[in-house]
Amino acid sequence: MLSYIIEGGNKLEGEVNSSGSKNASLPILAATILSGKTSTLYNVPNIQDTQTMLRILKLLGCKISKKNGKVNIDSRDIKIQEIPDELMRKMRSSVILAGAIIGRQKNATFSYPGGCDIGTRPIDLHLKGFEQLGIKIEESGGSIRCHCDKITGNDIHLDFPSVGATENIILAAVLAEGDTIITNAAMEPEIVDLQNFLNKMGAKISGAGTNIIKITGVKNLKDVSYTVMPDRIEIGTLLCMSAITGGEIIVNNVKIEHIRPIIHKLEETGSKVIIEKNKIQLIGTKKLKATDIKTMPYPGFPTDMQSVFVSMLSTAKGTSMVVENIFENRYKYVNELTRMGAKIKIEGKVAIVKGVRKLVGAEVNATDLRGGAAMCTAAIAAKGISKIKNIEYILRGYENLDKKLTKLGANIKIQK
Ligand code: EPZ
Repeated sequence: MLSYIIEGGNKLEGEVNSSGSKNASLPILAATILSGKTSTLYNVPNIQDTQTMLRILKLLGCKISKKNGKVNIDSRDIKIQEIPDELMRKMRSSVILAGAIIGRQKNATFSYPGGCDIGTRPIDLHLKGFEQLGIKIEESGGSIRCHCDKITGNDIHLDFPSVGATENIILAAVLAEGDTIITNAAMEPEIVDLQNFLNKMGAKISGAGTNIIKITGVKNLKDVSYTVMPDRIEIGTLLCMSAITGGEIIVNNVKIEHIRPIIHKLEETGSKVIIEKNKIQLIGTKKLKATDIKTMPYPGFPTDMQSVFVSMLSTAKGTSMVVENIFENRYKYVNELTRMGAKIKIEGKVAIVKGVRKLVGAEVNATDLRGGAAMCTAAIAAKGISKIKNIEYILRGYENLDKKLTKLGANIKIQK
């Protein structure tokens, strides 16, 4: 079990580069199965989740080579159609492979991804979408078998703009016969990145980034090379980590339109944000101001930034109201934060955050990926030393976080 040892109190200052997006990389890596050709990807972050995804692709028969940030995937020889159960459990977002495997092989077997630390994470919308494409679903003892003779395009309305369901339906529909229209589709930037990647591969998709996406089935796909978008959640996390210290940082390689909801809320708390072409500068303030947050599907405030923001608001002047509207159990980290002196009351979906003057270093656990990032945010500003245990969660989604924070002046070490 790995831990971070962080001595708080330093202002974060300086310049750092963002990494590629975890949540764009995972569906794009899955999409490489569709072509049976070679895909060359740049800016894929080297984190646990992308490593797990590459392991699964290799198990399925892909030839993989990685060289300083460039990933080559040759999916000519896909042999099996089963996603290994232990890897499904290790990373629930492996379910995104289902659409790609079905799209290519017309059948796939996988187990229910199961819940995780932030909620039950059902996949009913994924399965309903597959059925509407003519895919038969057989479930027995936790395992799901999907098969069909052909995939037929259809009109699919999502009850909720689920990111994963939107991506999985797109993947299953790329090689279908006919057109598929997804209405009430998720509008996240990662879906636009998936559309751009697939269209470069020869697919015919339009509308990603809006709530209506059209996929016209094609017969063949080709070799492609593509650069993954920057990670908007990592960028937001770094900005909050600087803001809580009253520091001043520049983050390079940023798509500003992806982080407007985050910028808007950072400014409400009193930080100054200067936007240049593809970089962002945050100038912190001595005392942050409280503000209210409601997590919503994009372009609303992202649920993945909720925990880090609560951490930052726990030392703001005044009381903040935070409403988590996306996941039913995304406050697990709060108990750990209160061990550092935060004053937070949870009532159902609402967190009432009463700002305190200073947090105090303590021994705490990372409860999940973004909960772990929240603990780092608190520890960086806390008085004294903190030990954050179970940082394997954090390593799933943040590339070289300790190195980036050290470069910005934080006192952080990894302890085995
Ligand atoms: C993606 O998860 C992201 N993960 C999540 O990031 C992110 O929090 C989430 O989208 C929302 O933006 C990846 O992209 C790998 P959803 P996903 O389907 O696709 C319910 C992180 O920290 N739902 O939009 O699982 C579901 O229970 C991770 O990087 C159904 O009810 O999110 C949840 O309440 C965490 N039925 C809501 O929709 C379904 O079939 C949003 O889920 C599917 C989802």
